[in-house]
Amino acid sequence: MSTKKKSRAQKKIRVGVIFGGRSAEHEVSLVSAASIIKALDKRKYEIIPIGITPSGTWVSGPQVLALMKRRAPMGHLPACTLTADPSMPGLSPVHGSRRAGRRQKLDVVFPVLHGTFGEDGTIQGLLELAGIPYVGAGVLGSAVGMDKIVTKQLCEHAGIPVAPYLWFVNDRAGRKMRAMVPLIEQRLGYPAFVKPSNSGSSVGISKAHNRKELIAAIALAGAYDRKILIERGIERSREIEVSVLGNDEPVASVPGEIISSNEFYDYDAKYVDGKSRAVIPAALPRAVSRRVMDCAVRSYRAIDGAGMARVDFLVTKRSNAVYFNEINTIPGFTSISMYPKLWEASGIPYSRLLDRLIALALERHRTNLRLKRGFRPKSNWFAS
Ligand SMILES: Nc1ncnc2c1ncn2[C@@H]1O[C@H](COP(=O)(O)OP(=O)(O)OP(=O)(O)O)[C@@H](O)[C@H]1O
Ligand SMILES: [Mg+2]
Repeated sequence: MSTKKKSRAQKKIRVGVIFGGRSAEHEVSLVSAASIIKALDKRKYEIIPIGITPSGTWVSGPQVLALMKRRAPMGHLPACTLTADPSMPGLSPVHGSRRAGRRQKLDVVFPVLHGTFGEDGTIQGLLELAGIPYVGAGVLGSAVGMDKIVTKQLCEHAGIPVAPYLWFVNDRAGRKMRAMVPLIEQRLGYPAFVKPSNSGSSVGISKAHNRKELIAAIALAGAYDRKILIERGIERSREIEVSVLGNDEPVASVPGEIISSNEFYDYDAKYVDGKSRAVIPAALPRAVSRRVMDCAVRSYRAIDGAGMARVDFLVTKRSNAVYFNEINTIPGFTSISMYPKLWEASGIPYSRLLDRLIALALERHRTNLRLKRGFRPKSNWFAS
């Protein structure tokens, strides 16, 4: 093998792993990122940990994750930034920051950020401008996937069943809320689930059993988003989740089931009390399994998904009626999270899954590079 080939083979891929962030899911991201950094094959990848503090400062360095997990001060770490200029790809030191380092080239970025300012198309937009390949959905898929109302509208359009819902844009005076309450009672009834349209990890979500709880639930959701989604509660239902992987030829994993420790799968049941369980594969009739897998891939296509997503469903216990609930384009990624576990059960172990996600990011970047972006008008009409 020629030396050139040897050095290319030996050259590691520089992966920027971005974690933390400004959303309510900052802590969840730290746990996901720790798991990913641990599992990435160190023979193939050089890992550049990049933390975003809750106030939005970017810091890099091997100790960032540990410090963030301890909520320790990080003022002594070099602040850095990603420039939206493809001629300067990589992480640049913020001049004037203490111990400003040198620019670090990034071959690909793995944004391990959940919720707003990370899973919603914002950081994807910056990476597109910077010309850096990145894992997961693009700008549109991320933005749509984050917005539960738009996602439901697209899924309905694609013929995927969703729970009956209403939505409105909140107003400070509460006039719209007052107008909506009787409508919600009439059309959806109780229990009703009230959600900020853009959120995750059940933050801002409530189950309302009566008018008093409904009004409080709208106030809570309204603290996280101006758009409020209200859904009919699908009672006596099972929580079924499916992982999806791929760019334009997405595939679905086997379905899994979540048995929540609380009345619904809230933040505590997800991360705190440790009493919820996962059953993989979910014990479903074959036709129902196929249906949720098919709906998962169709919903992924409906939002223009890429790379990965976890799709959540509610399936009624009595008639196995399937309802699409929501899609997460950057799902939880700890080693006990459903996304990697469902792929493990479908034959793709964790570390290989990470290889696949990075390969999909590089593939999508190459595809986009082949597209024409510029246009050179024959006349100089603009020069006058
Ligand atoms: N219409 C509904 N009927 C019954 N239960 C529901 C309904 N909508 C939501 N839930 C319950 O609330 C939980 C959280 O809702 P949802 O998945 O929409 O929120 P999320 O914040 O996006 O969660 P994730 O952490 O999966 O991103 C669900 O897992 C389920 O337990
Ligand atoms: Mg979600």
